[in-house]
Amino acid sequence: MSEKFIPAFQNFVDELRQIWAKETKDEVRMKKAHAVMESTLLNDPEFINRSKDWPSTEGRKNLLFYTDPDYGFVINGVVREPGRTGSVHDHANAWVLYGLLDGTETLERFDVIDDRRSEGYAKVVLTSAPKGEAGKADLVGPYEVHAEQGSDIRSVAVILRSRELVGKILQGRYDRDTGKYYEGSGPDQIPYPLTAQ
Ligand SMILES: [Fe+2]
Repeated sequence: MSEKFIPAFQNFVDELRQIWAKETKDEVRMKKAHAVMESTLLNDPEFINRSKDWPSTEGRKNLLFYTDPDYGFVINGVVREPGRTGSVHDHANAWVLYGLLDGTETLERFDVIDDRRSEGYAKVVLTSAPKGEAGKADLVGPYEVHAEQGSDIRSVAVILRSRELVGKILQGRYDRDTGKYYEGSGPDQIPYPLTAQ
């Protein structure tokens, strides 16, 4: 590839491409990517430092860092302002690896206890809400219902999606209070190449 990114990010992309070339199942690919993201990307001082300048993604946006031209995996960034609350959703049939780079967040998981999604209703209950610490990634499987909550400080995450979602497939959205269920497209994608300086 001709374009060169920040070294840690370029290494991450290169390692992902090797994994995707070798493995055929998304679950296996994403579990391997989980280990690589935590051991090489989320603890890289230069990468963390660059993330301090990334713009806020308030208003349902994602920074779009990279879409692989051959394998279709996508790498995004999210920058949450202090006090940011997140809505309950799933990622349809995609696997998503959510790596916290800076700050803290709470990663809520839900069970669907009354599933009438075809009628626009799905009652969800909170089952766990672990604190996400910088340097750790959370792997979310297809149709797993969850929400990411910000904290009282700015937080930054890197997201690896096993396939392109936004504009391609609809994702489930859940109202935790009323049980309303509907489907929508994901956040707006704002191109933000992490080129080396
Ligand atoms: Fe998510």
